[in-house]
Amino acid sequence: MRTKSSEYKKRNIKIWNEVAPRYHKRWATASKGPFQSTKKLVSSLEIRKGDYVLDVASGTGVVTKLLKQKVGKTGYVIGADTSTSAIKIAKKWNEKSQNLLFVNADAENFSFKEKFDAITCQYALFFFPNSQKALKNMKNSLKKDGKLGISVHGHPDRVPYFDCIFEAVTQFIPNYVPPGTPDFDRFGTKKQLKDEIKKVGFSKIEVNDYDFPYSPGTFEQYWKNYLRYIAKPVKEKLDKLEKSQRKELKDMVRENTKPYTKRDGTIKFPWEVLILTAKY
Ligand SMILES: C[S@@+](CC[C@H](N)C(=O)[O-])C[C@H]1O[C@@H](n2cnc3c(N)ncnc32)[C@H](O)[C@@H]1O
Repeated sequence: MRTKSSEYKKRNIKIWNEVAPRYHKRWATASKGPFQSTKKLVSSLEIRKGDYVLDVASGTGVVTKLLKQKVGKTGYVIGADTSTSAIKIAKKWNEKSQNLLFVNADAENFSFKEKFDAITCQYALFFFPNSQKALKNMKNSLKKDGKLGISVHGHPDRVPYFDCIFEAVTQFIPNYVPPGTPDFDRFGTKKQLKDEIKKVGFSKIEVNDYDFPYSPGTFEQYWKNYLRYIAKPVKEKLDKLEKSQRKELKDMVRENTKPYTKRDGTIKFPWEVLILTAKY
């Protein structure tokens, strides 16, 4: 029998296979807004030349690429993700190298014969339905003095880029998020994130919060880009709305963005990011 979690995973893989090229172009390569975290995450782990590092849910390889520079020729980096199209992009974007490997692997089920000096996981922990299993897996793959580095988005109130739309959309489309989807906000506070990591037995856990403001341009640009970059199944739900409902929805979103709209008409959103470091 297929479980809800395996159905969610299938759906999620399909979504990431579809959106990976757009995600890469719009976010991963832009180093803007929340993607300022890539440097912070890697620097907080003090990666040294020669280190072995695993990047879990590596996506199109933005963290992996920086890790590879840090470990140099004597180190080794593995990027693991469930999306084959993200991996394809990551491979193309990164120079081919003997000590860089991208593999198709689930965070909850991978196993490598080597142990790592550090493991990173950027913007993905909340996607794992059994995040405890994934974290145990990470702990088992670390050396005894190994380090873990995790970044997640902060509480929805402090990430209005998502919330301005989400809050409105869910009033029009109650099943916007399909049943069986894990709660993406469940690690949005320092305490929630810390508690989750503590349960697995990591030590020296530290969580820092950052604000990486992001400007999506004017409201019209924000709305247009949202529609352009979302995944197909979500877009299909929006397209099913009546014309009048779409207008009402758009007006509601516009209203939500007002507190962040400057006099010149551009929006500037705050964007909270939590970066956690811990030791084995
Ligand atoms: C928001 S992207 C982050 C990618 C990358 N870490 C970055 O910073 O750009 C989330 C990634 O998590 C991956 N993902 C989701 N569930 C996964 C799982 N169970 N195991 C491995 N990767 C997963 C997706 O395929 C996607 O590439």
